[in-house]
Amino acid sequence: MLTLAIIKPDAVHAGKTGKILAQLEGAGFQIRAARLVKLTTAQAEAFYAVHRERPFYRPLVAFMTSGPALALALEREDAVARLREVIGATDPAEAKPGTVRKLYAESKERNAIHASDSPENAAREVAFFFSERELRELG
Ligand code: CMP
Repeated sequence: MLTLAIIKPDAVHAGKTGKILAQLEGAGFQIRAARLVKLTTAQAEAFYAVHRERPFYRPLVAFMTSGPALALALEREDAVARLREVIGATDPAEAKPGTVRKLYAESKERNAIHASDSPENAAREVAFFFSERELRELG
């Protein structure tokens, strides 16, 4: 099963990409596809469209377009739920010790990593960044 992660601009800028990838691989995830992206405003708006009525939507779009981010298609058994465990709660203050966000997130918004929150969203979000063809060719 595949899920989508994005190592966000704060973590890429802070030079934490390698450490986070090592943690994900150590937790049993295989990298099936990866791309360093600089999201456009239109792309970030579309990706986070479910949040468009929320007060944090505009700042979230601004943050996610502020620099390069690393999009990852990750595979493992029960990938969606397992990745959510590894990354920890949205707010690093509430994240469990040893989780990616506890270790590397600065705040609820600048929270180092995104992970899909359901199998349906994982399928949509993987397809947002990676074509069927490149997943097949890489896999
Ligand atoms: P992410 O997993 O990328 O999904 C939605 C993002 O919105 C979330 O991580 C946070 O970066 C951001 N977010 C969620 N809630 C808040 C909040 N209350 N304030 C600021 N940003 C938030």
